[in-house]
Amino acid sequence: MPNARAQELVEGLQKTIFEFMREHKVTHDEYRVATDLLAETIQAGEQSLLYDIFFEAEVTDIANTGRDGSPEAIEGPFYLPGAPELEAPFMLTQRADEKGDVLLFMGRVTDTAGRPLADAEIDLWHADADGRYSNIDPSVPAWNLRGRFRTDAEGRYKVRTIVPQSYEIPKCGPTGRVLDALGRHCFRPAHLHVKIRHPDVGEMTSQIYFKGGRYLESDSANAVRDGLIAELIRHERDEDLAAHNLDKPYFDVTYNFVLPSGVLAVARAVA
Ligand SMILES: [Fe+2]
Repeated sequence: MPNARAQELVEGLQKTIFEFMREHKVTHDEYRVATDLLAETIQAGEQSLLYDIFFEAEVTDIANTGRDGSPEAIEGPFYLPGAPELEAPFMLTQRADEKGDVLLFMGRVTDTAGRPLADAEIDLWHADADGRYSNIDPSVPAWNLRGRFRTDAEGRYKVRTIVPQSYEIPKCGPTGRVLDALGRHCFRPAHLHVKIRHPDVGEMTSQIYFKGGRYLESDSANAVRDGLIAELIRHERDEDLAAHNLDKPYFDVTYNFVLPSGVLAVARAVA
């Protein structure tokens, strides 16, 4: 039995592509370059990377349009379920000599009525100081800078990690070649990835960027949105360092998440 939604989307997309091909007088050689490129992304393991770089932000923008709560952002190709559950006080799993400045990431999670969401799960993952992700780059220990932790009774969270740096997505494969052909670089601005889950409200996926960071205006994934940029504050006073048992300056960033209403209903409808 035909799937009405599949017919609407696939046949509609086909019609749009036909119109595009006619408008641009696409040749057979160009058509074959495109199909070979898609095949090559699969051989190179870049199919998710290619689609996430070029299309995922648009899907996210559509979901953000006309709804309440904090903006969502792209998941990207490097999320993995099952990250370690952390014990309080929370610190992301990291090497004893993890490179980079200490970062305290903190804030609150509330619903759209401003009520604190206690025991919300925050799933945090990000690149290391050299722009590499664990479980993706074999030189990084498994689950490094990935972890899950929970908000307290007032919906507050605080986790210690390191300040991630901007990074270059793989530039030698098909995705990098397409960006190069378009005159675009392969960098993403420094960011934290989060998923927030609460059993009564639902789940959201987002990213936090740092005010003044490089590549905010030219993100290769075009995923930066104003509501996702937070201030990275440097602390160097002796009493601040002592309070956190640190011997060198550290940074903090505060972001208060408002879990959008209705996401649970959507998630259930498609499950
Ligand atoms: Fe990322």
